[in-house]
Parts: sequence; C-alpha cells; structure tokens
Amino acid sequence: MGEVMVHLRGVRKSFGDNEVLRGVDLEVRAGEVVVVLGPSGSGKSTLLRTINHLEKVDAGLVTVDGELIGYRRRGDRLHELREREVLRQRTHIGFVFQNFNLFPHLTVLENVVEAPVSALRRPVARARDQARRLLARVGLSDKEDAYPRHLSGGQQQRVAIARALALEPKVLLFDEPTSALDPELVGEVLDVIKDLARSGTTMVVVTHEVGFAREVADTVVFLDGGAVVEQGPPARVLDDPRHPRTRAFLSKVL
Ligand SMILES: Nc1ncnc2c1ncn2[C@@H]1O[C@H](COP(=O)(O)OP(=O)(O)OP(=O)(O)O)[C@@H](O)[C@H]1O
Ligand SMILES: [Mg+2]
Repeated sequence: MGEVMVHLRGVRKSFGDNEVLRGVDLEVRAGEVVVVLGPSGSGKSTLLRTINHLEKVDAGLVTVDGELIGYRRRGDRLHELREREVLRQRTHIGFVFQNFNLFPHLTVLENVVEAPVSALRRPVARARDQARRLLARVGLSDKEDAYPRHLSGGQQQRVAIARALALEPKVLLFDEPTSALDPELVGEVLDVIKDLARSGTTMVVVTHEVGFAREVADTVVFLDGGAVVEQGPPARVLDDPRHPRTRAFLSKVL
C-alpha cells in the first residue's frame, strides 16, 4: 500500500447540541479500500461529507494527498477557503451518492462529460473519448444516448461511478451505493466497485453489505456514536470483533 492519501485527525462535528463526530482519526493509503460499517445515525455519511468539505468540521483536520481540505493555514490560524477553491479541491475527491444524483436533462454521455469540461476545461472531444472508455468499463457502452429516467437504478449508479471517475479523483467516496437498489441490481454495481478495487483505486465505501466488505476491503472501520470503535482487516473485525458494540451490530446484519 502507498503513502497516506486521506488523513482525518481529531475530526469533530456537531449539529446543534447533537455531537455527531467525536474526534475521528482515519488514514486511507493510496490503493487502499476502506469500508465503513456502523448503525444508522452513527455518523457515516457525515464522516464522508467532511472529507470533501460538504460538511465543515468544528475541530480537527482533513487532508487529501497532503493538502488541507477546506482551509488554508496562515501562521497558526486556519482560514476557510473560498467556494471556488473548495470546488477545485472537490475535483480530486469523487463522491457517489445513494440516489445517483445524475443530471436528469442530460444524456448518459453528457453526464460523464460535463464535469471534466466545465470544471477542468478539458476539450470536449477528449472528454467524450474518455467518457466512452469509462462507460465501456462500467458496461454501458450501448446507453450513451439514453436519459437517466430510461435506465434501471443499477445502470444509473454505474453511470454515476463513470461520472465520478471522469475527474480522475485521488480518492472515491461511496455513500451506501447499493441501498436504493432492488436486490437483483445490487450485484452489478458491487462488481464495478470490485473491479475498481482490483485496479488500485483508493476508496472509502460506506455500506451495509458485509459480504462485500469481507471480499473487497483492506480495512474495515466500525463507527458507532460518532467514534471509531474498532478497525482492522475484514477477517479480524468481522469474524473476531473485540468490541461488544461491533459484535451486537454484526449479529443484527449478518
Ligand atoms: N444537516 C444535518 N442537520 C442536522 N442533523 C444532521 C444533519 N446531518 C446529519 N444529522 C444528524 O447526524 C447524525 C448522524 O447522521 P449521519 O447521516 O451521518 O448518519 P449515518 O451513519 O450515515 O446514518 P444512516 O445509516 O441512516 O445513513 C444523525 O443523528 C442525523 O440526524
Ligand atoms: Mg448515511
């Protein structure tokens, strides 16, 4: 595994008096697949959203490839970055949502081409070539002219993955990528994510798919009450959990 790509140190986040992240430390190395498990409300989505500054942190630091996310250091103070700079940082951090979030008025190809052209100023022809390669990779070459509403949920999610890859992100974040899908469509999306894992994509995946975690994760992180309760290789955390809360959670989902 390579050097540290994503680093969270002492990350805290509250909504009003609800403390949702209570000092989270996390390291993700280049090429590593980290799967985050935890009960509903434990802070999994909030944790992912702090990585690309969709949520501001109250305390702690997030870096991606050594770059402080959302802030600039001046002397011993941190100043929040302007929106434009945050948007530039986000181009390095792919995010795949539970509900796909495709642009409904754009075709599949246009969805994948949009960000490289508008955010990275890539020539359209080059962006299209790359989009076609990515659509082939997720098995959707025959759908490039379709609109999202004409696709199944599994197909829409595979387009969303191609779209995220188009920016060649340093890390790809997935927030329950299969939980909005009919059961028979889960496998095709997990297969695409497995393929990315094998090819060395750095990923943080929030999911309830324990079988997927066992097969694909390098590291499983169990989050509860806004804190990392336990983490380690899947065989260790899933088959020999040390913490009673991990055991209680696994006995419910397995
Ligand atoms: N924007 C917000 N405003 C207020 N409270 C929020 C906000 N976002 C999240 N929360 C609260 O933070 C807590 C953690 O939410 P989060 O969505 O991170 O949990 P989760 O582990 O992803 O849960 P799930 O498995 O249901 O998706 C919850 O109590 C939630 O109600
Ligand atoms: Mg969530």
